[in-house]
Amino acid sequence: MCGIVGYLGPQNPKDIIIQGLKKLEYRGYDSAGLAVFDQNTVKRVRAEGKLKNLEEKIKGETFTGHLGIGHTRWATHGVPSENNAHPHQAGKISLVHNGIIENYLEIREELKAAGAKIQSDTDSELVAHLVSQLYEQSQDLLGSVQKILSRLRGAFSILVIANDRPDELVAFKDGPPLVVGLGEKQNFVVSDVQAALAHTKNFVYLEDREIVAIKGADVKFYNSLGETINKPVITLNWSSEQIEKQGYSHFMLKEIYEQPGSLAATLAPHIVTLRARSEVQLFKVGFGSQPQQLESLNAEADWAQTQKILVQFEKIYIVACGTSFYAGSIGKYFIEQLAQISCEIDIASEFRYRQPVLNSKTLVLTISQSGETADTLAAIRLAKEKGAHTLSICNVKNSTIDREAHGHLYLNAGPEVGVASTKAFTSMVTLLNLFALALAKSRKLLSSQTEEEHIHALQQLPAQIEVVLGYDKYFAKAAEQLKAFKGFLYMGRGVNFPVAMEGALKLKELAYYHAEGYAAGEMKHGPLALIDEKMAIVMIVPDDNLFEKSVSNLEEAKARGGKIISVGTGENARLKSISDRYLSIPKAHWSTNPILATVPLQLMAFHLADSLGYDVDQPRNLAKSVTVE
Ligand code: F6R
Repeated sequence: MCGIVGYLGPQNPKDIIIQGLKKLEYRGYDSAGLAVFDQNTVKRVRAEGKLKNLEEKIKGETFTGHLGIGHTRWATHGVPSENNAHPHQAGKISLVHNGIIENYLEIREELKAAGAKIQSDTDSELVAHLVSQLYEQSQDLLGSVQKILSRLRGAFSILVIANDRPDELVAFKDGPPLVVGLGEKQNFVVSDVQAALAHTKNFVYLEDREIVAIKGADVKFYNSLGETINKPVITLNWSSEQIEKQGYSHFMLKEIYEQPGSLAATLAPHIVTLRARSEVQLFKVGFGSQPQQLESLNAEADWAQTQKILVQFEKIYIVACGTSFYAGSIGKYFIEQLAQISCEIDIASEFRYRQPVLNSKTLVLTISQSGETADTLAAIRLAKEKGAHTLSICNVKNSTIDREAHGHLYLNAGPEVGVASTKAFTSMVTLLNLFALALAKSRKLLSSQTEEEHIHALQQLPAQIEVVLGYDKYFAKAAEQLKAFKGFLYMGRGVNFPVAMEGALKLKELAYYHAEGYAAGEMKHGPLALIDEKMAIVMIVPDDNLFEKSVSNLEEAKARGGKIISVGTGENARLKSISDRYLSIPKAHWSTNPILATVPLQLMAFHLADSLGYDVDQPRNLAKSVTVE
């Protein structure tokens, strides 16, 4: 979705803005622009397409001022074009906007009737006109913003400057995130901390309908009633180096390679060694209202308290979108098998509108890498309204979902920049495994043998992933031949069924192939009709209790001419003899097979897309963080 960077300080705003927008490129966008003070007025430059087009246009331009705003646009209202690119201007006002103004039609009519000259097809420009009308009368930028806030419906984060106020920036939000970076005599307002991380580690997260007004070095926050408020400053420990490619050709490839380390980081806080034996303990689940409160609890008290809370749930709903939904789908198997609690898995955009039965015995567990996905956030709000407990699994600490859920678990996977989720997925599956164990333990359903088996399997994962990363070289070559297929049918059973869906999603979003993920047992109920020699069948068939059944499905597909790519355990001669290509994963536990099987599928999608010349880190039409419905 759109990226926003605002800067007020002694450095050249143009450089800070371009640098910041580059850090947000991964979010996906189709045009870019900036408005920066120059000789006591605002100079605006916009360009369709990538940031390099904007950079080309501003070459040789001077910007002498110290205040500026910049934006990368992901089109919602109006086609991607220079004219629809931000910043938008009306009168003395320049503004950038992320999100959607839902009542834009009504505002447009009103502005037209009042004689406003509307230049673009966007909803964003209308906000500039509204602010401008009030600012003309009052010459009070903050007051004008405070007044128009009640007029706006929808999801938005907005930065406003006026061309006769070279040291004043006002910003507000309702929905998409907005974060204020506090630096030495310089301040930033950004849609994602990554845009300012090179300059500061101290951030203040705006809540909905709060406003920040920055005047010179003075930063003030206001609530929706116009009262000044104090906001907590959060110091992040992410470094700006973590969001560099560090020698890899793509962020996605780097993140695939980071998985041994990211999984170890997911596991570390939750496995403790007591009396020479390892145990699962979920720390910092808490269920306090503020993440900060949890930090002060000591580990043992925290775990005892957590168990008391976990034991009361009679029903669990896992709610998420996209790749996180597929991770959650694996979690359902873990929870039902280990903890014997009925668990439903829901796509967040469906959950919020289907009137799920929720009460105080229900846990709604949301999963989100970004912690900003609009539908997932709405699910948390709905669950809280209906009196259910909410627990979030997030990668980005202090994200909106993390802040709003009662309880918190973190992936600790480090920043994920590639639009296609990779290391977050494997960390989610790992954390769900631990969560199911903790749940089973709190209900006294976990034998020490099962606990040990799971922990042992999880602890082996980093080394086992190093082995499957060897498929990088394999697919770098194989991609050339795989290109010839017209479609890909991914199949699996049990915990490996969601792996099939995740594998197919990676291929469609990166290489733009038609790919489907299916439960292998469903093949005869329709998809078998698709199979011919142009169709690749990617079957996830590790050595588990469903092996024989999956092999039968594989034989059926082969008999109809399908070309078989199978993912199996070790050197399985039987699978090899049926398969056109065989991908071997190390012998593992049923609960860790899905992670090991996912890695070669990530590499396959990466190399197919790369060999076709597609932009792997920023696939067409997609955004990393989906902050609108
Ligand atoms: C696919 C992908 C998306 C996200 C989805 C949810 O590779 O990345 O499907 O998984 O948009 O995002 P989060 O996890 O941030 O809520």
